[in-house]
Amino acid sequence: MIADIRTDGWTAHCIWEHSATVRELYARRARGEAEEMVCAAQAAELLAPLVSPGDSLLDAGCGSGYFFHSLKRRGIPAEYHGIDAAPSLIAIGQRELPRHGLSADRLKVLRIEDLDGAVDHVLCMNVLSNIDNFHRPLERLLKLARKSLVLRESAKNGAEYRYVRDAYLDPGVDLSVHVNAYDAGDIEDFIGARGFRVRRIADRRSGGLPEMVIDHPHWWTFFLAERM
Ligand SMILES: C[S@@+](CC[C@H](N)C(=O)[O-])C[C@H]1O[C@@H](n2cnc3c(N)ncnc32)[C@H](O)[C@@H]1O
Repeated sequence: MIADIRTDGWTAHCIWEHSATVRELYARRARGEAEEMVCAAQAAELLAPLVSPGDSLLDAGCGSGYFFHSLKRRGIPAEYHGIDAAPSLIAIGQRELPRHGLSADRLKVLRIEDLDGAVDHVLCMNVLSNIDNFHRPLERLLKLARKSLVLRESAKNGAEYRYVRDAYLDPGVDLSVHVNAYDAGDIEDFIGARGFRVRRIADRRSGGLPEMVIDHPHWWTFFLAERM
């Protein structure tokens, strides 16, 4: 038999590349037509006092880059950059955000694992809970952050790892995704051991209660890390 060895495995198996509903929502958000996410408002408020004019900010796992609107709306003077592993979502941001003032080259198709460099602030929201573990990507983001990192993930007392079928994808698509809840103390210790002062902050949207996303509970929690 002839071997069939391809290099498109990431996009072929990535849930975010297989949902017209997500693409439509992320396009409305990029156009500024959807209501601002409560977590985006909270993240912007956490970042606001930390940002000096001209500071750079990387939104890691940015979707289509709509957090740019949360900064702009509040006049937070950060230079916004976004990366995301899903090419179709980055393409939406590159199409929609230039008319709102963000140059298309500020959005890149890139996995956290392939990222290197330095920025002043890093934001990572609702990303690491859906990948296999937090250690390597979070370490990479902390290495990048000169000043601060704002993280929002599913975290509680005691970790729970799950790999589940996502029943909300396009018809006929059968893919699974991690819905991990990490131990909040483990995350704090991990960040603290890398030279940051870290605070755990209650999530405003979920009010500390588990929120069901694709039929599985998420214990949304913010962590604010400032380099010492
Ligand atoms: C639940 S969405 C969150 C999007 C946005 N941060 C928000 O809060 O609305 C998760 C995003 O993480 C991206 N993602 C997943 N794994 C990634 C990785 N290894 N590196 C970069 N982005 C990743 C997905 O493509 C998707 O856009």
